[in-house]
Amino acid sequence: MTFTDLSAVQRLRFFTNIEFPVIGKRLERIFWLHGTRKSREVDLPIGQDTMLLVSQLLKKSHQHPLELETALPWNMGVDREMLPKRLDQLWLYGTTFFEALSSDERLETAWLETARDISLLIQLKRTVPSLFVGYLNKFSNSLPSSVHDYLLVHALEEITQTLIFRRFTQIANLPYFQRLPAYTQTSALFPEMHPCVGLLGTLIIGWMVDSGAMYATQASGIDPLTREIFKQHHSVKIRHIEFSRRIIEDYLGNASIRERHKFREIFRHVIPEILKSLRFDPEIAQHTSFPFPVSGNHAASIEAVRTSVHSQLLDEERFKSMMNWLWKMELI
Ligand SMILES: [Fe+2]
Repeated sequence: MTFTDLSAVQRLRFFTNIEFPVIGKRLERIFWLHGTRKSREVDLPIGQDTMLLVSQLLKKSHQHPLELETALPWNMGVDREMLPKRLDQLWLYGTTFFEALSSDERLETAWLETARDISLLIQLKRTVPSLFVGYLNKFSNSLPSSVHDYLLVHALEEITQTLIFRRFTQIANLPYFQRLPAYTQTSALFPEMHPCVGLLGTLIIGWMVDSGAMYATQASGIDPLTREIFKQHHSVKIRHIEFSRRIIEDYLGNASIRERHKFREIFRHVIPEILKSLRFDPEIAQHTSFPFPVSGNHAASIEAVRTSVHSQLLDEERFKSMMNWLWKMELI
């Protein structure tokens, strides 16, 4: 077996050719290779308030270290006869495709949608540690000590959460989704860009999946271990969100007009695509035991589901606080 390490430029070309060529072109324009930069200093202005907050976050993580064995009541097991999320949060809900599903098919669909969310979280959590530790190796001399340590703790928590979600998928016997939204190619570019691009890119996906899962699972009638795993994930995620948000706020408050413009240009185009792709993943049709009503290659049906009134209203509700912040930061 051979392993090929694609250079940043090759990866960028891959992204440009394969997915969203328009976004790829924009990225190409604003992209800079760190190899061409002489300095290993990073322009990451961090205010006093943020430094204080990071110290507090660090303290909380040390006081409540995350452990695989004790994070969840594992002996509770998973009951696949129960729903893992509210039925009115299913991707097809509010469309005629949903009406065509029997109650058994709705239950199976609900578990597969949960499997997609967990696959996305696992993929994200595999990206974050190498990305953050990569920043430390590149910029360690210019990062404040508490930020340096919090990046390490953050990376460690993501690794432990990956183990937690992996154990859960084994217990619940859930498949791993391979085709994940635009994220794979985009995240491959993060190490070459300003750290705030990587921080915001990973923040958005994690925040969306966490908000969606909390909105759909914290109700009666939901499998208890599923409810617990997302609640547990959320309790750590709120610290990660707070950290990234504050670093990005400080960056946008201090960067030059040109830098701010370049930064916002990337995300204004990527965010709507990510939002849409999260509303429906065509790979689900490959995992169902019955013919799924939305075929993986029927673009019009997929578009109808992704733009349904119900899914847009649902996003407005479950992503309210994230969208308000993105709007305040002029990122949407
Ligand atoms: Fe996180």
